[in-house]
Amino acid sequence: MTEKELRALLDSMTIEEKLGELWQPQQLVYDKDGVLTGAADTNTYTPEEIYRSGSTLNLFGIDRIRKVQEEHIKNNPHHIPLLFMGDICRGFSTIFPITLGYSCSFDLELIKKAYRVVAKESAASGFHITFYPAMDLVRDPRWGRVVESAGEDPYLASKICAAMVEGLQGDGLDKPDTIGACVKHFAGYGGAEGGRDYNTVELSERTLRQYYLPGYKGGIDAGASMVMTSYNAIGGVPSNCNKHLVRDILRGEWGWDGVVITDLWATSSMTSHRIGDDINDEKYQAEVSLEAGIDIEMGSCQFRWLADSIKEGKIDEKLVDEACYRVLKLKNDLGLFENPFREMSEENAEKLLKCDEHLDIAKKLSTESCVLLKNEDNALPLTEKSGKIAFIGPFVDLSTTSGGAWVLTNDDESGSLHNVVNKHYPGNDFIFAKGCSGLGREQVRESKRFSQYSDEQNREKDISEAVNIAKKVDTVVLALGECPGMFGEAKSRANIRIPDVQLELYRRVRAVNENVIVLVFNGRPLDLSEINDAKAILDVWYLGTMMSEAVTNLIFGKESPSGKLTMSFPSFVGQIPVYYNKLPTDHRKEPYWSEYIDDSSSNPLYPFGHGLNYTTLKYGKTVFSKERFTPDETITASVEITNTGDRDCCEIVQLYIRDFRATVSRPIKELKGFKRVDIKAGETVTVQFEINEEMLRYFNIDMEYVSDAGRFDAIIATSSAFEEDEMLPFYLDK
Ligand code: BGC
Repeated sequence: MTEKELRALLDSMTIEEKLGELWQPQQLVYDKDGVLTGAADTNTYTPEEIYRSGSTLNLFGIDRIRKVQEEHIKNNPHHIPLLFMGDICRGFSTIFPITLGYSCSFDLELIKKAYRVVAKESAASGFHITFYPAMDLVRDPRWGRVVESAGEDPYLASKICAAMVEGLQGDGLDKPDTIGACVKHFAGYGGAEGGRDYNTVELSERTLRQYYLPGYKGGIDAGASMVMTSYNAIGGVPSNCNKHLVRDILRGEWGWDGVVITDLWATSSMTSHRIGDDINDEKYQAEVSLEAGIDIEMGSCQFRWLADSIKEGKIDEKLVDEACYRVLKLKNDLGLFENPFREMSEENAEKLLKCDEHLDIAKKLSTESCVLLKNEDNALPLTEKSGKIAFIGPFVDLSTTSGGAWVLTNDDESGSLHNVVNKHYPGNDFIFAKGCSGLGREQVRESKRFSQYSDEQNREKDISEAVNIAKKVDTVVLALGECPGMFGEAKSRANIRIPDVQLELYRRVRAVNENVIVLVFNGRPLDLSEINDAKAILDVWYLGTMMSEAVTNLIFGKESPSGKLTMSFPSFVGQIPVYYNKLPTDHRKEPYWSEYIDDSSSNPLYPFGHGLNYTTLKYGKTVFSKERFTPDETITASVEITNTGDRDCCEIVQLYIRDFRATVSRPIKELKGFKRVDIKAGETVTVQFEINEEMLRYFNIDMEYVSDAGRFDAIIATSSAFEEDEMLPFYLDK
C-alpha cells in the first residue's frame, strides 16, 4: 500500500477498530486447529473483539497459522491481516547457543549469519516478528535472564544487538525471508536488585545512559522494527508508563519511529506496581501507558477502555491514531496487505529447517562460544598422552542440549556427548558413567520444582561407582553444571555454585585422580572456586542443536577453543556485582581501602575477556602512531602478537581505553575495540586499531555526550586482566 492508502485506511477505522490493532491477545484464544475458542469461549472477549485485534504471539504450526490468518482477514471489518509474533530467540528449528554463550565468540559476522538462519526458518514457518534481541546489560549472575544477555559490556552488547537485528531483518522487511526484530526489555531490566527477576532497579541517569542503554541502541541504530518495554521500575517508574524512556529518549533523542509493545500482561501488572487510583484501575493504567508511548498491549486488554477516556477528554485521539498508524505501517512494511502468508509454506519449511547449511553455521557458532578457562599441563585436548579416559557426570548423557531457555519450538534431542563421542571415536575403550544426578536433596525445595533432576536414593551408589572408575583411569572428564531450566525467566539463584551433589562427586573423584577436566554446562556465570583445582575447565554453556558435535571436536583437538568471557565469573557470591569496567576509588591502600577484610579478593575468579586456546601467545607493547591527535584525526594503536606454541589459533584481541581527564569519574578500563585474528603456530602478526574522537565520548557532568581534551591511556590485550599501569598514554587536543 502507498502511504496515502494506509492513511485512508486509518481514517476509515472506528475508534474500537483502531484500539483493536493495539491489542495482542495470547494464542490461547485459538484452539489447536486455529479456530476461535479458548478465552472467547469463556466470554472474556467476544469474537468481534478478537477479530479486531492486530496481532498474536507464540502460535505455532503452519496449518494453524494459515487458518487463523484466513479467518481473521475474512472477519476483520477492514480485512487487515494479523501479525504473528513470538519468542524465537535462539532459532526456530536449528537451535543456536544461549546468547551469553555466543557473545563469547565476539564474532559479529557469524552472529549475523546465525540470525539470518533464525529469520529464514521462522519466516518459512509463518512468523513475522521475533521478540529478540534481549540486550539487557547484566552485572549480577544471580539473575536468571543473564542467559539471554551479551554480558556486562555496553560496547560489545551494542555491536551484538546490531548484528542480530541485521541478520533478522536482512535486506529489509519487504523481503519475505526476513522477520522483524523486537529489542527488549527496555530498559534496565538486567539491573534487578539482588538479581531477583522483575525486581526494582535503581540506576542513575548517567549509569543508565552510559552502560545500560547502548545495547538496545545498537539494535535501534540497525533499524529494529520494534521495542518491548520491561517489567521493572527504575527509580519507582515502571517502564510501561515511563514517558522519559520511551517518548524522550527512544523516540525523541534517538529519532526512532517503530512500534513499542509492552511485555506480557505488563499493563495489568502495573497493578502490582500500584499504579492507578485504585489497584484495579484498568482505564488509568491504559491511559498512562499510551501517554508514555506504548503502541501495543501484549496479553491484557485494557486499551479498550481508552474509547471512554477519549470521550471524557482525558486522552487525545491523536495518540491512538499515531500508535495505530505505526502498527499498520509495520504490517505494510512486511508486505502483509499484498501477501499475508509471505514465505510460509510446508515446502519452504521442509527445505530450510535444520538444513545442512544451517547446521554448519550452528556448529561453528557453538564451537566459538566455548571458553577454555584453565588448562594446566595442556590437559586438553585429549590425546594419547591422556591415557585411559572416563567421561563421568550427569550431563554426559544429556540429550536436551538447548537447556530449555526460550526454546519454544523444538527442544532438541540432538545427541548426548556420550553418543557423539562414540560416533566419532568408535571402537575406543572410553568409560561412561552418570556419577550422580543433576541435583540432590539440598537444592530441591519443598515446591519440588526441579525434582526430576534429583535421585537421592542412588546418590551413594552412583558416586562410589564413579570413584572406582576414577581410580582406574588416567584422565576423568567430568560433565557438571546447572540442569536445563535452572536459568531463564524467573530462575534467579542466590547460590550460583555447581549444585552440592555434583560438588561432592567432584571432590571425591578429584581425591583419587588428579587429572580431572571439567566441562561446565551453564546458563550463567558460576562461582567455580570449588572446582578450580581441576586440571582444565572448559565452559560449554548450553549450545543447542550442535552442542555435542562442537564439544567433542574441541575436547579431542579437532578444533581449538577461541571464546572469551563476556561476563566476569565471581570468586564468591559476596563480591557480586563484580565487573571489569568499574570506576576507580582513591581508597586503594590498606587499611583504608576498598577490599574485604576477610582475605577475600575483590577480583573475579575469571575476568571479562579471559579465555585460553590450545597454544601460547606473547603480546608485545602497544605502540601508537603518534602521541597526540585532534578530533578530525585518528591514532593507530598496534601490537605484535607471537604464537609461541605449536598449534594455530584464533585470538580475540581487545582494545581497552581509559579516560584520565573527565568531568565525572570514568571507568578504569573500557573495551573500545576487538578483532578475531588467526595466528599460525610460530607466526608473529601485527594487529591495529584506529582510535578516533568519537570513541572517547561519554556523558559528562551536564549529561552531554562529548569528549574532553587531555590524557587517555590505552592497551591492546588478551583480556581485561592487565594492571592499570601497563596502559600507555596518548592525548586528544582540542
Ligand atoms: C517475557 C518476554 C517474552 C514474553 C512473551 C514475558 O514473560 O518477559 O521476554 O517476550 O513473555 O512470551
